[in-house]
Amino acid sequence: MLDKTRRNNITPFPGKGADKIAAISGDLQYGIQPGTTPLLAEFVQTLQNTIDNCTGPGIAPAAKAALRGYVCEPALLAAAHKQGDADNYTRHLLYAAPDGSCSVLALVWMPGQITPIHGHTAWGAVGVYEGNPFCENYQVSRSDNGAIGLQSQMKMRLTAGDLATVRPGIDDVHRIGNESQRRAITIHVYGRDLVAEPSSLNIVFGQ
Ligand SMILES: [Fe+2]
Repeated sequence: MLDKTRRNNITPFPGKGADKIAAISGDLQYGIQPGTTPLLAEFVQTLQNTIDNCTGPGIAPAAKAALRGYVCEPALLAAAHKQGDADNYTRHLLYAAPDGSCSVLALVWMPGQITPIHGHTAWGAVGVYEGNPFCENYQVSRSDNGAIGLQSQMKMRLTAGDLATVRPGIDDVHRIGNESQRRAITIHVYGRDLVAEPSSLNIVFGQ
């Protein structure tokens, strides 16, 4: 978590989870994780073919395009990967590329759950599988003494099928949460090996 952070126009969120990134649940292993569905396997094949044929800044949009045809198909997720937790939002690993090129997660947001404000160390593509989570974006500034400023820029209420890309670094800082009264689920693809380095993905700024 970064110290000396100055926050402007940031509304405290009353729900749980804002103080820490949720751990990834399960026994992390390479390949398609146990208990996933045939449609998830089909998506992973499409995604891996896409990534294997793409490099540079085009990879996140390509992963997003691969996600488009699958993200809100009910058969994509098994019941076990729709399970939330009362204490924090849940991160289920669905796939980890054996070559470390990408990882796929399902995140489950019970009402009132939210991430800390954070950026990422890798490219990513995200889509909404179920419900109405929100994403709030922040502008990051640095003063001469090294202090970091965060300014809320835009808050978007999302719906099933919505898609976005994630850029690595602190030019893309955000938080995702669920202020609706029902469960929300999102699917995330990141260009990061989350079996070898499960805690390496996020740059956390705190609440
Ligand atoms: Fe994120």
